Amino acid sequence: MKLPPLALALTSLALASCARPAAPAPAVDDDPRFACRVAVSPLHTALRTAGGDRAQILRPNAAADLARLSVNARYRFVLDGDRRFAIAPMPDDAPRNPYDHPVLGGGSPVRSAGGLRVLHANGRVERVVLDAQSYAYCTTTESLRPAVRALVALGVDAARITAEGRPFACAEAAAPPRYGPIMVRVGQRYELLGRAIVAGRWELAGYALHELDEELDELPGATPPEEVSRDVLGPALASLRQRMPALAQAVTARDAAAARAAYAAASTTCNACHAAAQHGYLVVPSTPGEAVPSSSPDDAATPADAAVTAHVAPARPSRAGAPCNDRTGCGGGLVCCTHGGAYTATISHVGRCMGLRACNTQPSAARR
Ligand code: HEC
Repeated sequence: MKLPPLALALTSLALASCARPAAPAPAVDDDPRFACRVAVSPLHTALRTAGGDRAQILRPNAAADLARLSVNARYRFVLDGDRRFAIAPMPDDAPRNPYDHPVLGGGSPVRSAGGLRVLHANGRVERVVLDAQSYAYCTTTESLRPAVRALVALGVDAARITAEGRPFACAEAAAPPRYGPIMVRVGQRYELLGRAIVAGRWELAGYALHELDEELDELPGATPPEEVSRDVLGPALASLRQRMPALAQAVTARDAAAARAAYAAASTTCNACHAAAQHGYLVVPSTPGEAVPSSSPDDAATPADAAVTAHVAPARPSRAGAPCNDRTGCGGGLVCCTHGGAYTATISHVGRCMGLRACNTQPSAARR
């Protein structure tokens, strides 16, 4: 068949348009949605009681909106069924923060839920760190994929996004024992041990020591308070346990002087851990027979407390190199650098103030 010239021209135009690169295929909707595992209405009631409002939830439209969040503070977020972010209007640790994940998600299934930290300077997002910790949605780290894609769609460079991969607690999992209740018992046993030593009641002292030992056995599997890094707990527990044989020997030998010395030595290690765990105000007395923990005003400014103050500056320091914690952060355009260059490891909360760039290039070994 012979085509007229116009038809030929049209055909080649059509061919030319076919040769253009194909438009990206629409994303396959294969990201699972996670159902909420807890009752939502009590949380909505709590939201109203706290003066909160779902209208306050942040719904970013562009990367620049993320630069309004406090630098490096963890904010709870969900990625809803339509892949839109809903971010709590206050940091995770704000007092009486009522914006739980189910509130953010309205109780509906979500694509992703967890925490988000943004490092930014001059309105530019330098880094986003995601975690999949949601007690109510029980999301997995894998669920962060659509969140990463949504961040990229907002204009965040994918290379600036990292995720913290570790297992998190879920509402339905049998909760592991928590540090606090074990520590209450440790304190009781230790106080009883001290009183028994003072009274020369050696059998009672032996019993208290045995019970104390059993409580200490529980600690490695227990969940520490959220703000305490596990990194500091292991070594601190080990140094306490090294003091136990001397205590046991003194009690068995019914040697009051040796028992008092061993008690004082063990108390030092209790206090060292409390200081490292940012609980330096929990002072364990070195003298047996006294209440545990001490509430004496004399103990308020012990070396343990001083160590904590040195580590965790209460105000917002603005001098480069000053100790800081990532709750209060730093002033003067500095960030509280608590990590090495890679933001993927466990979060530690104590650091030093420095410029963002300096922080980003810190070797990971130079943490804290
Ligand atoms: C490995 C770290 C570590 C060691 C070692 C340690 N503690 Fe603790 N202790 C903690 C932490 C962390 C808390 C705070 C728990 C919380 O807030 O849930 C705590 C809290 C306490 C409390 C307060 C409990 C309460 O809520 O009323 C007492 C009492 C206590 N510890 C006693 C002791 C004694 C006595 C020793 C030594 C024999 C000791 N601790 C050794 C980490 C430690």
